[in-house]
Amino acid sequence: MSVVETLQHDILIVGGGAAGLRAAIAAVEADPRASVALVSKVYPMRSHTVSAEGGAAAVARDDDTLEMHGYDTVKGSDFLGDQDVIQYFVEEAPKELTRLEHWGCPWSRNEDGTVATRAFGGMTTKRTWYAADKVGFHMLHSLFQHSLRFDRIVRYDEQFVTKLLVDEGQVRGVAALDIREGVVRCIRARAVVLCSGGAGKVFSFTTNGNIKTGDGMALAYRTGVALKDMEFVQYHPTGLPGTGILITEATRGEGGHVKNADGERFLVTRDYGVGSKAELGPRDMISRAIVQEIEAGRGVKGPYGEYAHLDLTGLGEEKIDSRLPMVRELCKIYAGVDPVYEPIPIRPVVHYMMGGVDVDIEGATSLPGLFAAGETACVSLNGANRLGSNSLTECLVFGARSGNAAVAFARGSNDGAPDRIEQLTAEEQGRIDALRGRKKGGEKLATLRTEMQEAMERGCGVYREEASMQQTCRDLAELQKRFAEVSLDDPSRVFNTEVVAALELANMLDVAETVANAAARRNESRGAHTRRDATSRDDVNFLHHSLCRRDAVGPRVETKSVTLGRWEPEERKY
Ligand code: FUM
Repeated sequence: MSVVETLQHDILIVGGGAAGLRAAIAAVEADPRASVALVSKVYPMRSHTVSAEGGAAAVARDDDTLEMHGYDTVKGSDFLGDQDVIQYFVEEAPKELTRLEHWGCPWSRNEDGTVATRAFGGMTTKRTWYAADKVGFHMLHSLFQHSLRFDRIVRYDEQFVTKLLVDEGQVRGVAALDIREGVVRCIRARAVVLCSGGAGKVFSFTTNGNIKTGDGMALAYRTGVALKDMEFVQYHPTGLPGTGILITEATRGEGGHVKNADGERFLVTRDYGVGSKAELGPRDMISRAIVQEIEAGRGVKGPYGEYAHLDLTGLGEEKIDSRLPMVRELCKIYAGVDPVYEPIPIRPVVHYMMGGVDVDIEGATSLPGLFAAGETACVSLNGANRLGSNSLTECLVFGARSGNAAVAFARGSNDGAPDRIEQLTAEEQGRIDALRGRKKGGEKLATLRTEMQEAMERGCGVYREEASMQQTCRDLAELQKRFAEVSLDDPSRVFNTEVVAALELANMLDVAETVANAAARRNESRGAHTRRDATSRDDVNFLHHSLCRRDAVGPRVETKSVTLGRWEPEERKY
């Protein structure tokens, strides 16, 4: 079988969100001759970055320092963040956010014209830059518009990368399914940067859009690259019951209160470890507190289960309309409440993966030529728990660094053997053709996906324990077998969303297995990984990263040391 088309670039970026666009811009700026392909499953402005709400962190105020941002991040990570990475991050963060302003990002301002910052959880001072509560939209727009200045960034929108082409121990490009036409193209490149976002859709109740199916993580995993710290799944404390729509932490940064059914501000009145930070404690602790309140019978009963209240009524209409206009709109439409007058129903919701493709500070993986950045990657900035608003900045800082590193790698590399690379693409076209309209075994995609999500909710929730984690591992292994028997109904090529969903489910199953297996191996409680049967942190045995490698029987879990530095691990109390 021959390949329908072969294209050639120097650098290829997978994903058109904040990290991908920043990597692409860095690459063309680093090398005036470099040709960069930006391949995205969706049109870039539909990337999940667009839905980010509350802000991006960087030191901006006189009462703040890089050391404080560094320490907050290390402590937030429950001492699992790599301190060299954190140091670099806090230094670059203000430069990146200022650069973004020069590219058009309309950061909100103080009265005196300086950039306004708001409080966010686990941060010592107001450090989160914002543009009302539509930060992701404005950041993505600025990056996208800036990228359009460069003819050498060639976009392939609505093209789904289904395979990394590896030859002679090096990545040589990707096979990409053109969703509109149903053909698979061979896009060759000397270096590939994965920036395709996280994998929240392995859970049923999530803030994540449908596109976040762990594609980049699964691609890397299948080549033998490890996924790191996958057990650490961030539950955001304030999602709307029913839909999982994010109600930004900025609501609490602006003065909102979390209350139980009795109207009690339990983060103030009870000891949940957040101290005087109260509603501005870190996400892992507040999520646990809400779950405990519900378990103690103090939840509010509703059609989608029990929940807590987020009360913004003390903020006043003017503040809500100027700082949190989208929150008001979302609450009115999706919860039927106006937060100016009524409390918002909220409960913890899967929001973010701390884990991802194991990369070093350059974004380089163990596979020559393969890089990753953003939520797809685990550069070990966030450790066991990310602080809200560090991730948008992470996309910029490490998107740029990986774009630069990819250029440096590509300069010293060659194009490989075109025949063999095309042959790999032809095989991939054959695999996808065989999937379309395939009648086999009768397993339904939707059934398998639902069962996977339910298994993840049971075993890898806010609280975990041995028996349910092990059961989830077994359930996922069984689902992998059943997936081999899946039947698809639609044989057509054009916009065959069923085939796309099947490929996405294959990715999610691989990623879900790494989450559950890494979780079952970590016999302690640290950050977002909280066990009822091993309640304390165990630095003697578990102050290490987890690495999951693909094995014939599922993920093989190994360990990797944490890079410590000036901040010694200590009890994490606020
Ligand atoms: O609550 C939020 O606005 C989310 C921010 C983040 O995840 O960084």
